[in-house]
Amino acid sequence: MDWEPLIAAATAARAKAYAPYSRFAVGAAVLMEDGSIHAGANVENCIPSLAVCAERNALAAAVSTGLRRPQALAVVTEMSPPARPCGLCRQTLAEFAQDLPILVTNPGGEREETSLAELLPYPFSLTGPFSAKG
Ligand code: THU
Repeated sequence: MDWEPLIAAATAARAKAYAPYSRFAVGAAVLMEDGSIHAGANVENCIPSLAVCAERNALAAAVSTGLRRPQALAVVTEMSPPARPCGLCRQTLAEFAQDLPILVTNPGGEREETSLAELLPYPFSLTGPFSAKG
């Protein structure tokens, strides 16, 4: 897996983050089934609960072009060790991928490779083994 194009796209998106409240800029980039890369940054609001994470904005950008199958996700924050996607984003990703390689990194070059299955082993599912629909 060549992470460099995803890291570059996530880093560029992070520079556009709108995070005047938390001052915590996040950039994310997702590689889709056709090889295209879609990036997003976090976009905050004066109503704190309306903040949208970079990961969900990147995924929404990809899905909005008709793509449905993410292949890999990179996330860039300033955190050390690099921050992993939040719970809301994990569940949102699980809507479109059973498993997904995820790389979290920071500008200092620290990297952790993980996966959606590792970060969210039991996603909610309407069709899963523990759901009402069976
Ligand atoms: N944030 C993300 O963009 N992705 C995450 O996975 C965690 C948090 C954003 C939301 C908010 O704008 C800021 O980081 C602080 O929580």
